[in-house]
Amino acid sequence: MTAPDIPAKASDRPTFALTTPLYYVNALPHVGSAYTTIAADALGRFHRLEGKAVLTITGTDEHGQKIERTAAERGKSPQAHCDEIVAGFERLWQQLNIRYDRLSRTTDPRHHAIVQDFFKRVWDKGDIYLAQQQGWYCVACEEFKEERDITDDRCCTTHTNKPVEWRDEENYFFRLSHYQEALETLHRDRPNFVQPPSRRNEVLSFMDQGLQDFSISRVNLDWGFPFPTDPKHTIYVWFDALLGYVTALLDPDDEPTLDNALKRWWPINLHLLGKDILRFHAIYWPAMLLSAGLPLPQGLFVHGFLTQDGQKMGKSLGNVLDPFALVDRFGADAVRYYFLKEIEFGRDGDFNETRFVNILNADLANDLGNLLNRTLRMAHKYGDGTVPSGQVPPDDALMALGLGLGDRARHSYRTLAFHDACTAALELARTGNKYLDERAPWTLFKQKELAAVDAILYAVLEAVRLAAYWLAPVVPTLSGAIYRQLGFSIDFNEVEVGPPGHDQWGALPVGQALAEPQPVFRKLELEN
Ligand code: MSP
Repeated sequence: MTAPDIPAKASDRPTFALTTPLYYVNALPHVGSAYTTIAADALGRFHRLEGKAVLTITGTDEHGQKIERTAAERGKSPQAHCDEIVAGFERLWQQLNIRYDRLSRTTDPRHHAIVQDFFKRVWDKGDIYLAQQQGWYCVACEEFKEERDITDDRCCTTHTNKPVEWRDEENYFFRLSHYQEALETLHRDRPNFVQPPSRRNEVLSFMDQGLQDFSISRVNLDWGFPFPTDPKHTIYVWFDALLGYVTALLDPDDEPTLDNALKRWWPINLHLLGKDILRFHAIYWPAMLLSAGLPLPQGLFVHGFLTQDGQKMGKSLGNVLDPFALVDRFGADAVRYYFLKEIEFGRDGDFNETRFVNILNADLANDLGNLLNRTLRMAHKYGDGTVPSGQVPPDDALMALGLGLGDRARHSYRTLAFHDACTAALELARTGNKYLDERAPWTLFKQKELAAVDAILYAVLEAVRLAAYWLAPVVPTLSGAIYRQLGFSIDFNEVEVGPPGHDQWGALPVGQALAEPQPVFRKLELEN
């Protein structure tokens, strides 16, 4: 495969827009929010390397009862509370080295304009009506719950320490039931719309129970956009929040109209989300878009839940893993690598500190970092400190593995199998270590087999480079450090598109001056 053709102008490139959920701002970000955002960032970076124009969208969901109550408990106005927490999100994204293009806040006045435009379409379609809403409400989920989703002590199954509340009030409803057939067709004709397949099955069985209209307004709640046709109501937080994905598409100087928002990046290529908010994204959201006459997103990818030491994380359990503390201690690359390499994206996963330290040290400090270090030393000792010119024999085992890495890693990223992309890159490094040990260039050097020494060193340096390239979406700073040691001036935190040819074996230029070897990844230590 050749390097991707890179069109001269950014506007000529194929586009890729992806989203994280818009996070509730009831508290500072937790590790679950960090997890989705890290994955989105890695995927966005991959598509950039591939030559696409990428828009990575994240944001915050700021309206509703949950936020209103939290602000009141803290003695703050809702807006002041939101601004403070949003600043915390921005800080975490910076510390985690997240490269996002948009941070969509649902309290942004431009968002209000988009919600009004969209609402009008749905209203004009006749899909909104007034009726009585009776039911159990979980404020933490901001969702009415069916009896089957309530535990014996009257909590929802997700928030087992927060009792549901009885509501009996007039609400405006959205005619979801009208879209039963259209949604069945969608999920039948586009089996990849929801990935992985286990989550699609969940959607299918939910639809089998028959779709019920859901309420999209609230009374006795001020913290939300006024309902356009009846100011005694405010718009339901989820109806407003999902549209934050659309508002995010506006360029900074665009008039905030739906038409402007939809002109370049719509439909969004991929929504990333956790399994608890599947129904909103796979059923409610497509139905809302169908009602407004808009094309649907290309798909959703649903990830699992993280536990700590095998236990559900929760404030009441006192084991909420703090992402700020984690990055402070171990650095952004380490945190990014652990969550993407150690946990298969789509499945539940666990955080365990001993495993964290062990994996990082084994993979990045030893297998990759040490390999580079020892090989660079030899390049300086046995040669003139430039990339040696040895001819790697056509049947060379390391090269054979390297030749296959591009296709395997590309496929892994495209299918969001981040763990597999990392494993493939690490396999190359691991094989490089074995290759050095077996071929023992130090002995060959003594025997004056200089051409063979050069060939071995070239192959190993190139293996490290190629592994670094394919790890760059996950550990961009480390990959940049490796590249600098190899004599490149490429910063993976800055690149807009992958340097041509670097996705394949053989891009390391013979004669390029190598840097003095320096450790690229500091070994981590356990606290106790
Ligand atoms: N505000 C809504 C989303 C609106 S999108 C238009 C929301 N926010 S949230 O902050 O509660 O959750 C955001 C994401 O974090 C969800 O995708 C959720 O699955 C994820 N996680 C929350 N706890 C988690 C873990 N313990 N592990 C992994 N992800 C988890 O829902």
